[in-house]
Amino acid sequence: MLSFLRSDLTQLNAYTPHPEAEGEHQSQPIDRLDTNECPYDLPDDLKQRLASTYQHHIEANRYPDGAHTDLKSAIATYVTESATNPIQISADHISVGNGSDELIRSLLIATCLGGQGSILVANPTFSMYAILAQTLGIPVVTIQRDDGFALNLDEAEAAIASHQESAQTTAPPIRVVFMVHPNSPTGNPLTSTEIEWLKQLPSHILVVIDEAYFEFSQHTLVSEIAQHSNWVILRTFSKAFRLAAHRVGYAIAQPELIQVLEKVRLPYNLPAMTQAAAHLALTHRQQLLQTVPEVLQERDRLYTALKDRSQLRLWPSAANFIYLQMDTEKATADLSHQLKKLGTSVRFTGGGLRITLGSPVENNRTLERILKIL
Ligand SMILES: Cc1ncc(COP(=O)(O)O)c(C=O)c1O
Repeated sequence: MLSFLRSDLTQLNAYTPHPEAEGEHQSQPIDRLDTNECPYDLPDDLKQRLASTYQHHIEANRYPDGAHTDLKSAIATYVTESATNPIQISADHISVGNGSDELIRSLLIATCLGGQGSILVANPTFSMYAILAQTLGIPVVTIQRDDGFALNLDEAEAAIASHQESAQTTAPPIRVVFMVHPNSPTGNPLTSTEIEWLKQLPSHILVVIDEAYFEFSQHTLVSEIAQHSNWVILRTFSKAFRLAAHRVGYAIAQPELIQVLEKVRLPYNLPAMTQAAAHLALTHRQQLLQTVPEVLQERDRLYTALKDRSQLRLWPSAANFIYLQMDTEKATADLSHQLKKLGTSVRFTGGGLRITLGSPVENNRTLERILKIL
């Protein structure tokens, strides 16, 4: 025990991206369907362009552009053009992070650090909000979702009320509500009732809408940014844009909040190659996003093939993964384990299995293996 460390950190485990793989040495190749990536690498021609950018335009001895000037402009154009309701987004509405994970941490630092606030999350949801909060000593208030994974709004209201400054509690007030749209691991988008509830939250609570799966769902609340100074939308290049290896995400919010995120982040948080890769992906987005309809078709195929199996419970998904459960949590965990043994890695989380859609060949194997186990 290192006595100079914060005692609360000793209770925490380091994040393991592939917990199922811990301690195992699998000889056969594994279908990696546990982290919601796109199954396809960048096309060769784009990889070659990127290699040529490195060769001819990147000076390895120089720091990268710490202001992300070109990338922010390209992102702003993409966000404006892909919005489902009209909105004009400019570079000063954008902050770029080393993955959206970095932006989540920056938001926590900017709002809750030093005993200033707690966060509210509705489980099951993306685990990083709570993990990053705990590493910063920020209290996490959790509520449970209902049977269809909608928010229990009474419970959410009660949680906020019981942490208000005036309440008889020593816990700091809730300063941030984290929502994923559509939620991971369960795949459901926010309902109109949930959206209305988020809209009426007071301006001293930051509403984070994580749209990591926007390119699959085509649901976005980005146009709300114009009306709400306490809203921020998060997106990532790790999913449909096929750049998980490069670590790049972005936040969209009113300039006042963006300026604070810019203060909080590390000065050169995005390597030059990462900036170049994200820029290239945006320039060639039509080509890259061509795989999205295939993934959605595959999702529907898998869902249809599994939904009537009496041992399984499945929910419709608006993202590139499906979520299922068996009768008991133990049976679900066993299914995950057996799938891994057969060569398909999925994520056991929140009491269910989250299965990322892979290539059609991988999805066929997933289906065959699940049916074999059942
Ligand atoms: C909801 C959600 N937000 C953020 C992320 C992380 O994105 P990034 O790779 O940009 O850190 C993920 C990754 O799985 C996710 O599911």
